[in-house]
Amino acid sequence: MDLTTEYLGLSLRNPLIASASPLTGTLDGLRRLEDAGAAAVVLPSLFEEEIEAEAAARERLDALGAGFAEADGFFPRASLPTAGPPHQLRLIERARAALGIPLIASLNGTTDAGWTSYARLAEQAGAQAIELNTYFPPLDPALDGAAVEQRHVDVLTAVKRAVRIPVAIKLGAGFSAPGAMIRRLDAAGADGVVLFNRFYQADIDLVTLRPWWHPSLSGKTEIRPGLLWISTLAGTLRAAIAASSGVETAEEVVKYLLVGADVVMSTSALLRHGPEHLRALLEGLARWGDARGFTSVADLRGRMSRARSGWPAAGARGDYIGVLHGYMGDR
Ligand SMILES: Cc1cc2nc3c(=O)[nH]c(=O)nc-3n(C[C@H](O)[C@H](O)[C@H](O)COP(=O)(O)O)c2cc1C
Repeated sequence: MDLTTEYLGLSLRNPLIASASPLTGTLDGLRRLEDAGAAAVVLPSLFEEEIEAEAAARERLDALGAGFAEADGFFPRASLPTAGPPHQLRLIERARAALGIPLIASLNGTTDAGWTSYARLAEQAGAQAIELNTYFPPLDPALDGAAVEQRHVDVLTAVKRAVRIPVAIKLGAGFSAPGAMIRRLDAAGADGVVLFNRFYQADIDLVTLRPWWHPSLSGKTEIRPGLLWISTLAGTLRAAIAASSGVETAEEVVKYLLVGADVVMSTSALLRHGPEHLRALLEGLARWGDARGFTSVADLRGRMSRARSGWPAAGARGDYIGVLHGYMGDR
C-alpha cells in the first residue's frame, strides 16, 4: 500500500507523526524517531513563561558580571537552565541539519507578543511549520466560552500574520461545540487542526494535602472524541486534520484514517514502547490496507467520514439509548 501523504503542504513518506514529548526534545530521540519511520516530528512546546524566566536569569547574570571578567567563573553560563529558546532554537537548527524529515515547532504563549515573536524565531531557526499548543483554562468564572473561543482565533490570526510557514492549531476537546470552533479556526486561516490535545488535571495527595500532577499516558479508548469530530468534519475543512490521542496499535491509526485524518500523531505509545514502536504501527497499517485491497492511504482515508458513510449522525440518539440499555458488563 502506498503510504505517502501530505500535511500542511509538506510531502510525507507516511501518515505517522511523532507528537510533542520529551522524545522529540533531543537530537538522539529525533534521530531514533526518524530511523523508526516517523514522517515528521513536533518538537516540545516553547513555553513563554520558561523563555521569560531564562531571559530574566541571563539579564541578572549579565548585570552581576558587568565589568568583572572573572565573574564568568563564579556564574558560569553552563549553569543556566538548558530549556527555553536558545536550547530549543539550537535544537531546531541542529535537527534541521541532521534530519531529512520535516520539523514542526510547537509554541505555547501567554501574550500576543510572545506567540508571534517565538513563532518568528522558530521559523528563522528552520522549522517547516508551527503548531500552536493552546491552553487557556478558563478558571475565572467570569470568563465565558465566547471569550475563550475568541482568544483562540486571535492567537491564530496573530501568528498567521507573523510567519510565512504553515500554522496548525492543537486543541483540547472541551468546547461546548467543537465543530463550530474548528470551523471558525478554519475560516480564520488555520493550515491544520490537531484533534485533540490531552490536558492534565491535578489530583490531591492525601498525605501532604497538596495538589500533585502526573502526566499519565493515554489509552486506546481516548481515540473516541477524535473519531467523532474528525468523521464529522472531514471533507468540510480547508485545513488539514491531524488526529492525536489514544494511538496504541495500528488499529487506532487505521480508524483515524478511515474517519478522514490526513495524519496520525503518537506520543504515549512511543514513550511506553520506545520510538521503534513506530515500525509496528506502520507495518500494521500496511498489512491491514493490503489485506483489504486498499492501494494507498488516500484510498482508505475518509471511508468512514460522515460525508461518505453517514456516521456518526445516523441514529446518534438511538445509538446512545441503545448503549445505555444494552450494558452487559465491562468489556
Ligand atoms: C510527557 C509528555 C510531554 C508532553 N509535552 C507536550 C508539549 O510540549 N507540547 C504539546 O503540545 N503536547 C505535549 N504533550 C502531549 C502530546 O503531544 C500528545 O498530544 C498527547 O500525549 C496525546 O497523544 P497520545 O495519546 O498519543 O499520548 C506531552 C505529553 C506527554 C505525555
